[in-house]
Amino acid sequence: MSAQNITVIGLQWGDEGKGKIVDLLARNCRYVVRYCGGANAGHTVTVAGERYPLHLIPSGILHKGVHNIVANGVAFDPVIALKEIDTLRERGVTINAENLSISSSANVVMPYHKLADRLSEQSLGSGKIGTTALGIGPCYSDKAVRTLAIRVADLLAPETLKEKIARIVEIKSKIFKSVFGYDEPIDAEGIWWEYCDYGKRLSEMITDTGAILRSAWQKGERICFEGGQGSMLDIDHGTFPYVTSSSVTACGVPAGAGVPPKAVGRVIGVIKAYTSRVGAGPFPTEQDNQIGQYLREHGKEYGTTTGRPRRCGWFDAVAVKYAADLSCVDELALTLLDVLGGLETIKICTEYRFDDDKAVQHLSIPMRMPSAKCVYEELPGWDERIEDVRSFSDLPANARAYVQRIEELIGKPVGLISIGPQREQVIKHNTGLDDIVV
Ligand code: IMP
Repeated sequence: MSAQNITVIGLQWGDEGKGKIVDLLARNCRYVVRYCGGANAGHTVTVAGERYPLHLIPSGILHKGVHNIVANGVAFDPVIALKEIDTLRERGVTINAENLSISSSANVVMPYHKLADRLSEQSLGSGKIGTTALGIGPCYSDKAVRTLAIRVADLLAPETLKEKIARIVEIKSKIFKSVFGYDEPIDAEGIWWEYCDYGKRLSEMITDTGAILRSAWQKGERICFEGGQGSMLDIDHGTFPYVTSSSVTACGVPAGAGVPPKAVGRVIGVIKAYTSRVGAGPFPTEQDNQIGQYLREHGKEYGTTTGRPRRCGWFDAVAVKYAADLSCVDELALTLLDVLGGLETIKICTEYRFDDDKAVQHLSIPMRMPSAKCVYEELPGWDERIEDVRSFSDLPANARAYVQRIEELIGKPVGLISIGPQREQVIKHNTGLDDIVV
């Protein structure tokens, strides 16, 4: 039953191009489900030259017959969701209760979460995480506190919502004043009005999404779980504390979507042909030099959500192997291979070394990164344009060798290779995804 579901996750620090891969797979899925993160995600889908940057709405929204679900594990920001829905509708995309459902159990990002995110980052100075400032961490932290959380269902119960917001705002105001010296009044009544209105506008889409998904799974309808961010940003298994605040690997699917672990299905790990990272934190293969600049400009490595320039570097096989093992990845989707064209040589990090092995032996791979020294393997590059290539055998020999070396190092086959933003700019490799991508 579960074998036909698919889970698509990022194996690096996000921005691997998951949106495009989900869009390709969505055609043959009945459901596309966001189960982690929130509007901090930026998934770009390009159709017929039109770019659709999506933050909260699942990447299946551009396909007819696909039911998109924002599940309980998402930090749901109604302001951004409604803006995204309005923009998509203006561009001719149909959105209604038939193709978009929002979990009544998802936690709501409130205005004071965004304020807390900003105040906390400001107070940390050079030690800041470099968050997207969208209130993601504070929203999840209130979820963990429980008594400070607002859930989507609360938006449909005005009287309870009023009481909750008044109580929470009183507590937050005291915390902001004593911790950050912030004493501007927070308008609880205004927030209540605004969020009641969001509840009304979204009401037809708010439902028990877990029940929908469990029933779909039992009936054998294919579900695609769309991961946000990347495994190295996972709250438990990433480069803590420079991570996001949810479980973004395939391990996060059951809890974040309300489905049994067996429903995860086939796991597809999306990897960029090099590495990028936004925000602070360790990045062993970072190239803070001309190579990094080259990758940033050729790969248009500027944040979809924040517009920030991304830090760029070589492919890190140690990090990707760790992430692939963590989520028991079945196959890989390799993106942005075209960006490497024009480089004389291309490096892959195959091993980390440490000045003092004993000092790191008890640490996980991400926690070892700050003191890791990379061992690189150097492969020859290629000059040919590959954007119009549609079969693996037509790729330049050096590009084929690069893909094959990645497969060897990670120990998993590459099923899809993306060589440009358009839907058709894709090469099917091995047999991996042939039964899903048509
Ligand atoms: P937050 O999720 O806004 O709290 O940010 C925590 C860290 O995760 C920061 O380094 C962000 O830049 C990073 N981050 C969050 N979402 C994404 C994403 O979708 N792509 C890449 N980085 C992300």
